[in-house]
Amino acid sequence: MTHPNVIWFESIPSTMTEAARLASEGCPSGTVVAADEQTAGQGRHGHSWHSERGAGLYCSVVLRLPLQANALPILTMALGLAVAEAIRRATDIRPDLRWPNDVLLHEKKVAGILVQLVDSVSIAGIGINVNHTSFPPDIAAQATSLRLATGRVHSRQELLDGLLESVDRFSKTLVEEGPGAVLDLFSHQSSYVQGKRVRVEQSGGEVEGTTAGLDPSGFLIVRRDDGTEATILAGGVRAV
Ligand code: BTN
Repeated sequence: MTHPNVIWFESIPSTMTEAARLASEGCPSGTVVAADEQTAGQGRHGHSWHSERGAGLYCSVVLRLPLQANALPILTMALGLAVAEAIRRATDIRPDLRWPNDVLLHEKKVAGILVQLVDSVSIAGIGINVNHTSFPPDIAAQATSLRLATGRVHSRQELLDGLLESVDRFSKTLVEEGPGAVLDLFSHQSSYVQGKRVRVEQSGGEVEGTTAGLDPSGFLIVRRDDGTEATILAGGVRAV
């Protein structure tokens, strides 16, 4: 089924800015901005998002959810679960989730999620590498696509339809069952939450240790070798 609220651009700087503009004009929840190409795709922490024309799914979903601003990390996790489910249905491969918001296939990043709040409306930006056959040298070692992982071409339209269903389902889980339900699901599906040896780059320095679960706000606990614990508030987590 094709989703009725999708506005598709051939080329756009970033679907985030257009979705934020529509949100500020009062567009309904569930409005989706998607593009064949982004010329200024945004990643987290000011990074850019490689948005090769026609190869990936680049979209931003406007979500008017009754959530507190501090639920944003958990909304990001709910979206990670949604992306993972859509990819699993399209490929039969179960992706891993690297806290807080990377979706991995065979240990390489296949999708990323960027959530922004605009006047208490959430803009859920999702980028999935679908039919890329190669990546620029600076990301080639860490990136993959559905095509590279499965050896076949995938329909971006079908993937988007499945994704929007999953976004709907996991947003409902968060709103109706609460953050704990999302944290449980995420913890079961991510190899990064418990017992993973990681290094985390943060502005205050580097933390290395073994992951020891999520706190109730969805932050990652890392136990250092000396037994002390660090609560990781933002990404930059790498397996070592
Ligand atoms: C990340 O992992 O750094 C997040 C990447 C998010 C990329 C998507 S692509 C669609 C939407 N528009 C953007 O400019 N960014 C997000």
